[in-house]
Order: sequence, then C-alpha cells, then structure tokens
Amino acid sequence: MDGNGRWAKARGLARTEGHAAGEEALMDVIEGVLELGIKWFTVYAFSTENWRRPVDEVRFLMNFNVGILNRNRDYLNKRGVRIRFAGRRDWRVPRHLAKTMDEAVDMTKSNRTMTLTICFNYGGRAEIIDAVKALVESGMPAEKINERAITSHMYYPEMPDPDLVIRTSGEYRISNFLLWELAYSELVFTDVLWPDFRRDNLYAAVREFQGRDRRFGGLDQ
Ligand code: FPP
Repeated sequence: MDGNGRWAKARGLARTEGHAAGEEALMDVIEGVLELGIKWFTVYAFSTENWRRPVDEVRFLMNFNVGILNRNRDYLNKRGVRIRFAGRRDWRVPRHLAKTMDEAVDMTKSNRTMTLTICFNYGGRAEIIDAVKALVESGMPAEKINERAITSHMYYPEMPDPDLVIRTSGEYRISNFLLWELAYSELVFTDVLWPDFRRDNLYAAVREFQGRDRRFGGLDQ
C-alpha cells in the first residue's frame, strides 16, 4: 500500500494524513476483492524495515493499525472475512496492538469467504530465515530438504502462492514482499498512489492479469 506519504505531501499534508486516507482505499479494495470472489488477499502494512522511519510516524502507524482494526473488524467479520497477520511478533510491537490483532484474528477465525492476510512487521527474508530455523530445529536431514519442506515451514503453508501482485505508486520493486511465494506471480505496476486506489483499479489490474500468458517455466501447450 505504497504512496501514502507522497499523496499527503502533494496536498501539503502530514505524511500521517496519507496513511489515514489509505484506510478508505483498503476498505474499498476489500469490497472489490469480495465482489470478484477472490478467496485470498494479502496486504503489506508494515515491513521489518519500516522501524527505521521517524519515531513519530512509527508511533502513529501502530496506533492507526489499532484504530483500523477496531473500526472495521465487525464489518469484516459480517462479510465473512478471516483476518490473519504474517510477520514477527517481536518486542517492538506494542502490547495494545498485539492484543487488538489477536482479538481480530480470534473473532474472524471461522470465516471462509475470504482470507485477509495483513503483513505486519513482515519481511520476505525474515520469513525465509524463520522457516530455515524451524527446519533445522525439526532435525530434518539435509537430503530431505526440498521446496515442499521449506513451504511447509513458512508462516501460512496452506496459503496458495499469489497469482497477482499489485505495486502502487510507480515503484518497480518487490521490497521484501513474499519473496518465496511470488516466484511465479504476475506483477502489475501502477502509478496510482495508494490513497487514490479503488476497486476499479483492482479490476483493471485483474484484467491485465487475465491477458498474461502464464507458463510457470514451461512452454505453451
Ligand atoms: C507506505 O506508504 C505505507 C505504509 C508504510 C503503511 C500503510 C498502511 C495502511 C494503509 C494501513 C494498514 C493497516 C492495517 C491494519 C490493514 P509510504 O509511507 O511508503 O508512502 P511514500 O512512499 O509516498 O512515502
């Protein structure tokens, strides 16, 4: 959900106003995901590198995440959305946020219409490191290690690899997002800044995806 800061700057607003405007974008896109019948939707809310931002912005984002969850969890629950978080739960995650995250997960855990995975304090490399640690701790012999073994130690082994990744705000990078899982994902880049992104932009990205020729390393049949 990139471009919040630039969206705010262009309007002479504080960066945090851009994040606040991102909430409406997120809820509209979730509506679009539900309309399309997409079962798995994952957003990148805070990376393992985002702690490097100014203390005030980090503090704002932590409180903002509590607010977003409190404002929207009942509605998402009613719509059949299962909320989950992917990332590290380390000492820097404030206790009140961790509690709010757990409550949202618990409230929505039986829902199956759509799974909303919020990557929070998430890094693709961190996830791979955590999987390798878990593999070593399991005592698996080296000759048994294959793709399936690694996948089974990722944060959500049953989550299908993403078909489509949308990067907003005119940046052409992966930025440590789902590095293992997006090996064969289709990438769509758009100049639209996240606070301006709406379900129509999602539909346009899906149409672009539908025009792609996916070969997964093979040849066309
Ligand atoms: C990146 O824009 C955006 C973020 C670091 C935070 C985005 C988070 C939300 C919209 C809320 C999500 C929360 C939940 C609980 C789902 P940027 O600041 O990097 O923008 P810039 O590149 O223009 O500076």
